[in-house]
Amino acid sequence: MRTPIVAGNWKMNTSLAEGVALAQGIVSELNIARLGKADVVLAPPFTHLYRVAEIMANKPKLHLAGQNCHAAESGAFTGEVAAGMLRSLGASYVILGHSERRQLFGETDAGVAEKVEAALAQNLRPIVCVGEKLEEREADEQEIVVQKQLTQACFGLSEDDFRRVVLAYEPVWAIGTGKTASPEQAQEIHALLRKAVAKRYSDAVAENTSILYGGSVKPSNAEELFDQPDIDGGLIGGASLKVEDFLAIVYALPVARR
Ligand code: PGA
Repeated sequence: MRTPIVAGNWKMNTSLAEGVALAQGIVSELNIARLGKADVVLAPPFTHLYRVAEIMANKPKLHLAGQNCHAAESGAFTGEVAAGMLRSLGASYVILGHSERRQLFGETDAGVAEKVEAALAQNLRPIVCVGEKLEEREADEQEIVVQKQLTQACFGLSEDDFRRVVLAYEPVWAIGTGKTASPEQAQEIHALLRKAVAKRYSDAVAENTSILYGGSVKPSNAEELFDQPDIDGGLIGGASLKVEDFLAIVYALPVARR
Protein backbone atom coordinates (compact mmCIF):
# COMPACT_ATOMS: atom_id res chain seq x y z
CA MET A 1 0.00 0.00 0.00
CA ARG A 2 1.08 3.57 -0.58
CA THR A 3 2.67 5.68 2.12
CA PRO A 4 0.66 8.58 3.54
CA ILE A 5 2.93 11.63 3.69
CA VAL A 6 2.67 15.15 5.08
CA ALA A 7 5.51 17.36 3.87
CA GLY A 8 6.25 20.88 5.10
CA ASN A 9 7.68 23.22 2.48
CA TRP A 10 9.14 26.17 4.39
CA LYS A 11 9.96 28.01 1.14
CA MET A 12 12.22 31.07 1.71
CA ASN A 13 11.11 31.60 5.29
CA THR A 14 12.76 31.60 8.74
CA SER A 15 16.16 32.72 9.97
CA LEU A 16 18.41 29.88 11.09
CA ALA A 17 17.37 30.41 14.72
CA GLU A 18 13.68 30.39 13.77
CA GLY A 19 14.11 27.31 11.61
CA VAL A 20 15.93 25.48 14.40
CA ALA A 21 13.14 26.36 16.83
CA LEU A 22 10.52 25.16 14.34
CA ALA A 23 12.31 21.86 13.72
CA GLN A 24 12.91 21.33 17.43
CA GLY A 25 9.26 22.02 18.17
CA ILE A 26 8.11 19.52 15.54
CA VAL A 27 10.60 16.85 16.62
CA SER A 28 9.84 17.18 20.31
CA GLU A 29 6.06 17.42 20.01
CA LEU A 30 5.36 14.94 17.24
CA ASN A 31 3.89 11.73 18.58
CA ILE A 32 5.62 9.27 16.30
CA ALA A 33 3.53 6.39 17.61
CA ARG A 34 0.47 7.99 15.99
CA LEU A 35 1.98 7.99 12.52
CA GLY A 36 1.58 4.31 11.77
CA LYS A 37 2.88 3.81 8.26
CA ALA A 38 2.86 7.55 7.48
CA ASP A 39 5.96 9.67 6.91
CA VAL A 40 6.57 13.31 7.81
CA VAL A 41 8.92 15.31 5.59
CA LEU A 42 10.48 18.71 6.33
CA ALA A 43 11.84 20.87 3.52
CA PRO A 44 13.70 23.82 5.09
CA PRO A 45 15.79 26.28 3.08
CA PHE A 46 19.17 24.88 1.94
CA THR A 47 21.02 26.99 4.51
CA HIS A 48 19.19 25.24 7.37
CA LEU A 49 19.38 21.65 6.16
CA TYR A 50 22.53 20.58 7.96
CA ARG A 51 21.31 21.84 11.31
CA VAL A 52 17.80 20.46 10.84
CA ALA A 53 19.33 17.10 9.88
CA GLU A 54 21.11 17.04 13.25
CA ILE A 55 17.86 17.84 15.06
CA MET A 56 16.03 15.07 13.19
CA ALA A 57 18.81 12.49 13.50
CA ASN A 58 17.63 9.02 14.49
CA LYS A 59 13.95 9.97 14.45
CA PRO A 60 12.08 7.28 12.60
CA LYS A 61 9.34 8.44 10.21
CA LEU A 62 10.84 11.93 9.93
CA HIS A 63 12.59 12.78 6.68
CA LEU A 64 14.51 15.73 5.33
CA ALA A 65 13.94 17.22 1.87
CA GLY A 66 15.51 19.83 -0.36
CA GLN A 67 13.15 22.33 -2.02
CA ASN A 68 14.95 21.95 -5.35
CA CYS A 69 18.18 20.62 -6.82
CA HIS A 70 20.23 21.01 -9.96
CA ALA A 71 20.25 18.30 -12.63
CA ALA A 72 24.05 18.11 -12.89
CA GLU A 73 26.21 16.08 -10.52
CA SER A 74 28.61 18.96 -9.86
CA GLY A 75 30.33 21.77 -11.70
CA ALA A 76 30.33 25.47 -12.47
CA PHE A 77 26.75 26.31 -11.53
CA THR A 78 27.08 29.23 -9.14
CA GLY A 79 24.35 29.31 -6.54
CA GLU A 80 23.00 25.85 -7.28
CA VAL A 81 22.81 22.70 -5.15
CA ALA A 82 23.25 19.15 -6.48
CA ALA A 83 21.14 16.14 -5.55
CA GLY A 84 24.24 14.37 -4.21
CA MET A 85 24.89 17.27 -1.83
CA LEU A 86 21.39 16.89 -0.42
CA ARG A 87 21.90 13.16 -0.04
CA SER A 88 25.25 13.70 1.66
CA LEU A 89 23.70 15.64 4.51
CA GLY A 90 20.95 13.15 5.10
CA ALA A 91 18.07 14.30 2.89
CA SER A 92 15.93 11.53 1.47
CA TYR A 93 13.42 13.59 -0.54
CA VAL A 94 13.54 16.61 -2.86
CA ILE A 95 10.64 18.76 -4.08
CA LEU A 96 10.86 19.26 -7.85
CA GLY A 97 8.85 21.30 -10.33
CA HIS A 98 7.12 23.41 -7.69
CA SER A 99 4.93 25.99 -9.43
CA GLU A 100 6.98 28.82 -7.92
CA ARG A 101 10.06 27.33 -9.61
CA ARG A 102 8.14 27.02 -12.87
CA GLN A 103 6.58 30.50 -12.75
CA LEU A 104 9.33 32.58 -11.19
CA PHE A 105 12.47 30.74 -12.28
CA GLY A 106 11.51 29.52 -15.72
CA GLU A 107 11.55 25.78 -15.02
CA THR A 108 10.18 23.64 -17.81
CA ASP A 109 8.78 20.11 -17.86
CA ALA A 110 11.92 18.93 -19.66
CA GLY A 111 14.11 20.55 -17.01
CA VAL A 112 12.05 18.95 -14.24
CA ALA A 113 12.48 15.55 -15.93
CA GLU A 114 16.28 15.95 -15.82
CA LYS A 115 16.17 16.87 -12.15
CA VAL A 116 13.93 13.89 -11.36
CA GLU A 117 16.53 11.58 -12.92
CA ALA A 118 19.35 13.30 -11.04
CA ALA A 119 17.49 12.93 -7.75
CA LEU A 120 16.74 9.25 -8.32
CA ALA A 121 20.36 8.60 -9.26
CA GLN A 122 21.32 9.91 -5.81
CA ASN A 123 18.67 7.82 -4.10
CA LEU A 124 16.46 10.80 -3.28
CA ARG A 125 12.69 10.42 -3.65
CA PRO A 126 11.45 13.29 -5.83
CA ILE A 127 8.17 14.95 -4.87
CA VAL A 128 7.10 16.06 -8.34
CA CYS A 129 4.60 18.92 -8.40
CA VAL A 130 1.99 19.47 -11.08
CA GLY A 131 -0.92 21.90 -11.21
CA GLU A 132 -2.86 24.27 -13.40
CA LYS A 133 -2.94 28.06 -13.28
CA LEU A 134 -6.12 30.02 -12.65
CA GLU A 135 -6.69 30.83 -16.30
CA GLU A 136 -6.23 27.17 -17.21
CA ARG A 137 -8.81 26.13 -14.60
CA GLU A 138 -11.19 28.81 -15.91
CA ALA A 139 -10.75 27.44 -19.43
CA ASP A 140 -11.40 23.93 -18.05
CA GLU A 141 -7.94 22.80 -19.17
CA GLN A 142 -6.74 21.43 -15.81
CA GLU A 143 -6.81 17.80 -16.91
CA ILE A 144 -4.78 18.39 -20.06
CA VAL A 145 -2.27 20.55 -18.18
CA VAL A 146 -1.53 18.15 -15.34
CA GLN A 147 -1.47 15.14 -17.63
CA LYS A 148 1.12 16.84 -19.82
CA GLN A 149 3.25 17.89 -16.84
CA LEU A 150 3.17 14.38 -15.40
CA THR A 151 3.95 12.73 -18.71
CA GLN A 152 6.86 15.00 -19.53
CA ALA A 153 8.39 15.08 -16.06
CA CYS A 154 8.04 11.41 -15.14
CA PHE A 155 6.90 9.02 -17.83
CA GLY A 156 10.36 8.63 -19.36
CA LEU A 157 11.34 6.76 -16.19
CA SER A 158 11.61 2.99 -15.92
CA GLU A 159 8.99 1.34 -13.74
CA ASP A 160 11.54 0.69 -11.00
CA ASP A 161 12.51 4.35 -10.91
CA PHE A 162 8.93 5.59 -11.06
CA ARG A 163 8.04 3.53 -7.99
CA ARG A 164 10.17 5.92 -5.92
CA VAL A 165 8.41 9.07 -7.18
CA VAL A 166 5.88 10.94 -5.05
CA LEU A 167 3.42 13.18 -6.89
CA ALA A 168 1.90 16.41 -5.62
CA TYR A 169 -1.11 18.09 -7.17
CA GLU A 170 -0.88 21.79 -6.43
CA PRO A 171 -3.35 23.99 -8.30
CA VAL A 172 -1.45 27.26 -8.69
CA TRP A 173 -4.55 29.31 -7.84
CA ALA A 174 -4.71 27.63 -4.44
CA ILE A 175 -1.08 28.16 -3.38
CA GLY A 176 -0.65 30.77 -0.68
CA THR A 177 -4.00 32.33 -1.60
CA GLY A 178 -6.14 30.87 1.16
CA LYS A 179 -8.31 29.38 -1.60
CA THR A 180 -8.29 25.61 -1.34
CA ALA A 181 -9.47 23.27 -4.06
CA SER A 182 -12.64 21.58 -2.85
CA PRO A 183 -12.12 17.96 -1.83
CA GLU A 184 -14.08 16.98 -4.95
CA GLN A 185 -11.97 19.14 -7.28
CA ALA A 186 -8.78 17.74 -5.80
CA GLN A 187 -10.02 14.13 -5.83
CA GLU A 188 -10.95 14.45 -9.49
CA ILE A 189 -7.39 15.39 -10.46
CA HIS A 190 -5.78 12.88 -8.11
CA ALA A 191 -7.87 10.10 -9.63
CA LEU A 192 -6.88 11.25 -13.10
CA LEU A 193 -3.18 11.23 -12.18
CA ARG A 194 -3.46 7.76 -10.70
CA LYS A 195 -5.24 6.52 -13.81
CA ALA A 196 -2.49 7.96 -16.00
CA VAL A 197 0.13 6.15 -13.90
CA ALA A 198 -1.83 2.90 -14.23
CA LYS A 199 -1.98 3.33 -17.98
CA ARG A 200 1.74 4.12 -18.34
CA TYR A 201 3.01 1.53 -15.83
CA SER A 202 0.46 -0.75 -14.15
CA ASP A 203 -2.44 -0.82 -11.72
CA ALA A 204 -0.08 -2.06 -9.02
CA VAL A 205 2.33 0.85 -9.51
CA ALA A 206 -0.57 3.34 -9.51
CA GLU A 207 -2.00 1.79 -6.36
CA ASN A 208 1.36 2.28 -4.62
CA THR A 209 2.03 5.87 -5.76
CA SER A 210 1.59 8.50 -3.05
CA ILE A 211 -0.21 11.55 -4.46
CA LEU A 212 -0.21 14.59 -2.16
CA TYR A 213 -2.45 17.64 -2.37
CA GLY A 214 -0.98 21.11 -1.86
CA GLY A 215 -2.51 24.57 -1.82
CA SER A 216 -3.75 26.32 1.33
CA VAL A 217 -4.05 23.15 3.39
CA LYS A 218 -4.83 24.11 6.99
CA PRO A 219 -5.89 22.27 10.13
CA SER A 220 -9.51 23.18 9.34
CA ASN A 221 -9.63 21.60 5.87
CA ALA A 222 -7.01 18.83 6.05
CA GLU A 223 -9.32 16.03 7.18
CA GLU A 224 -11.85 16.42 4.40
CA LEU A 225 -9.07 16.53 1.81
CA PHE A 226 -7.23 13.53 3.28
CA ASP A 227 -10.51 11.58 3.39
CA GLN A 228 -10.62 11.49 -0.40
CA PRO A 229 -9.70 8.05 -1.71
CA ASP A 230 -6.88 9.26 -3.98
CA ILE A 231 -5.39 11.93 -1.69
CA ASP A 232 -2.54 10.39 0.26
CA GLY A 233 -1.43 13.40 2.25
CA GLY A 234 -0.34 16.98 1.73
CA LEU A 235 2.43 19.34 0.72
CA ILE A 236 2.05 22.22 3.15
CA GLY A 237 3.45 25.73 2.74
CA GLY A 238 2.24 28.49 5.07
CA ALA A 239 0.76 26.18 7.71
CA SER A 240 4.04 24.24 8.00
CA LEU A 241 5.68 27.23 9.69
CA LYS A 242 3.73 26.80 12.93
CA VAL A 243 4.38 23.68 14.98
CA GLU A 244 0.80 23.43 16.18
CA ASP A 245 -0.78 23.83 12.73
CA PHE A 246 1.66 21.49 11.03
CA LEU A 247 1.13 18.76 13.63
CA ALA A 248 -2.64 19.19 13.44
CA ILE A 249 -2.38 18.57 9.69
CA VAL A 250 -0.17 15.50 10.25
CA TYR A 251 -2.75 14.14 12.70
CA ALA A 252 -5.50 14.74 10.13
CA LEU A 253 -4.12 11.82 8.11
CA PRO A 254 -6.62 8.98 8.51
CA VAL A 255 -3.89 6.67 9.90
CA ALA A 256 -2.95 9.21 12.58
CA ARG A 257 -6.42 10.19 13.78
CA ARG A 258 -7.65 9.41 17.22
P1 PGA B 1 0.52 26.88 0.77
O1 PGA B 1 1.70 26.34 -0.17
O2 PGA B 1 0.18 25.75 1.72
O3 PGA B 1 1.12 28.07 1.49
O4 PGA B 1 -0.62 27.23 -0.11
C1 PGA B 1 1.71 25.03 -0.64
C2 PGA B 1 2.93 24.80 -1.50
O5 PGA B 1 3.30 25.70 -2.27
O6 PGA B 1 3.58 23.72 -1.45
